[in-house]
Amino acid sequence: MARQSETYICQSCGAVYGKWAGRCEECGEWNTIVLEQSEAGPPGSLAAGSSGKQTRGKKIEFTTLAGGGEFEPRFLTGNAEFDRACGGGLVPGSALLIGGDPGVGKSTLLLQVAAGLARAGQSIAYISGEEATAQIRLRAQRLGLAEAPVNLASATALRDILATLKSERPDVVIIDSIQTLWSDALPAAPGTVTQVRACAQELIRFAKSSGAVMFLVGHVTKDGQIAGPRVVEHMVDAVMYFESEQGRSFRLLRAVKNRFGAAHEIGVFEMTGSGLREVSNPSELFLSESGEPVSGAAVFAGVEGTRPVLVEIQALVSPSSLAAPRRAVVGWDSARLSMLLAVLDARCGLDFGRHDVFLNVAGGMRISEPAADLAAAAALCSSLFDRALPKDWVVFGEVALSGAIRPVNQTDARLKEAKKLGFSGALAPSAAQGDAIKVAPAATLADLVGWTRSQ
Ligand code: TYD
Ligand code: MG
Repeated sequence: MARQSETYICQSCGAVYGKWAGRCEECGEWNTIVLEQSEAGPPGSLAAGSSGKQTRGKKIEFTTLAGGGEFEPRFLTGNAEFDRACGGGLVPGSALLIGGDPGVGKSTLLLQVAAGLARAGQSIAYISGEEATAQIRLRAQRLGLAEAPVNLASATALRDILATLKSERPDVVIIDSIQTLWSDALPAAPGTVTQVRACAQELIRFAKSSGAVMFLVGHVTKDGQIAGPRVVEHMVDAVMYFESEQGRSFRLLRAVKNRFGAAHEIGVFEMTGSGLREVSNPSELFLSESGEPVSGAAVFAGVEGTRPVLVEIQALVSPSSLAAPRRAVVGWDSARLSMLLAVLDARCGLDFGRHDVFLNVAGGMRISEPAADLAAAAALCSSLFDRALPKDWVVFGEVALSGAIRPVNQTDARLKEAKKLGFSGALAPSAAQGDAIKVAPAATLADLVGWTRSQ
C-alpha cells in the first residue's frame, strides 16, 4: 500500500525538509519551501512488497564499451548557430533543457528550429502548455513558417502527452514549458518540484526508449536559475540558456552542460521583426564602430566554446575625490578587476587608489575567461595614461599575482580570427607563436605598461 506523505520541498533547489522553514539551508533562498504531498512507499518497500509478497528485481544484462549495434548519427537542424550550441547537431534519444527569461525568444527559436526540421522531412511534435494553438499559428504566419509540417498541440496533461507520443513516435519533441505539465499520479500542484521532476523523468525515459530528441523549455527565476528544475539539469543530457542583454536585440544560446559535445559553446542570434536571425560572425557585434582610436579601449581576442570571438573591453579611469573610489564592472568579474588593480599597483607601481575605475565589455557580452586579464589591464593602462592603443591590435593573456603573463589555450585560433578580421598585431603571452599576424610578446605586466606608454 502506498501511503501519502507530507514533505516540504524548496522550490529553488529541491532540498527536502520534514517541517516548514522560512529559509532553505541548502541554497539560502527565503520563502521557497512549500508543502508538497507525494506518494511514498513504506520503508523497505523496494526490497520486499508490503503485502508480504517478495518482488524480486530482474537480472540486468551487461554489455561492453565497444557494444553491439550501430550508433544513430547526429542530425543537423539546418540552423548553424543552434547546431553549434548543441555541440554539432542533435543526438537521437537525447534530452535538452532550454532555459531563459520570459520573452527572450525560447518559443520563437524552437518554432524556427522545428519548422526547419519539419521541412527537412523529420516528424516534429510541438506541444505547448502556455499558448493556444491559434497563437502559435499566428506567430508561425508572421515568421513565414506556416506551411512547415509541424504537428502542433496545446496540452498539459502528462498522461495524454505520453500516450500521444507513444502512438505517433515523432523524431523530435518540443515541450514548452516543463513547468506547465502535470501528472495526475501526483497530488502536488503543477510547477512544483515534485511535478516538474516526475514529468521530466517520464519524458526523458520516453526519449531514451524511442530515440526521439526531447526539448524541454524551462522558466528562469529572478536570480537566473531555472525554477525548481535545477533538479532537471542533472537529468537531461544538455542544458542551454538563452540569454539577452537588457535593451539589446542579440541573443546568446549558451550550453552550460553537454554530454555529447563541448560545453560553453555559444550560438548567436539577433531578434528581428521576422524572428531570430543567425549571426555567423559575432565579432562584428562586440567591436565598437568608432573611427578614431580612443584611450581606454582594447580588443580582446577571446574564445567562447570552440569559437574565437573578438570583443572590445573599455575602461574609464578618472580622478576621484571619494575616500573609497568607485569600481564598477559590466560584463566581467569584479573580483578579477580588484585583483588586477592590486597587481598593477604592487608590480608596476600604478596607483589606481585615487581614481574611480569603470570597466565595460562592449556589446553586452559577458567574459569569464582568465585570458581577458591582459586586455582589461591594457584598457586600464590606456585610460590611465590617456594613450590610445592601436586599433588594429588585439590583446590576450592571463595575469598571475606575480605580474607574470601566463600562456592561454587556443592561441592559434585567436590569432587566426584576428587576422581574418583585419587586425595586424597581437600583444600576447611570450609563449604564443603564430605566423598569422605579428606577435609582440609580453612576459610581465611591465611589458604591457611599456607597450602602452610607447603608443
Ligand atoms: P517568445 O519566443 O514568446 O519568448 P519566450 O518563449 O522565451 O517567452 O518571444 C517573445 C518576444 O520576442 C516578444 O517580446 C516579441 C519578440 N519577437 C520579435 O521581436 N520578433 C518576432 O518575430 C517574434 C516572433 C517575437
Ligand atoms: Mg514561450
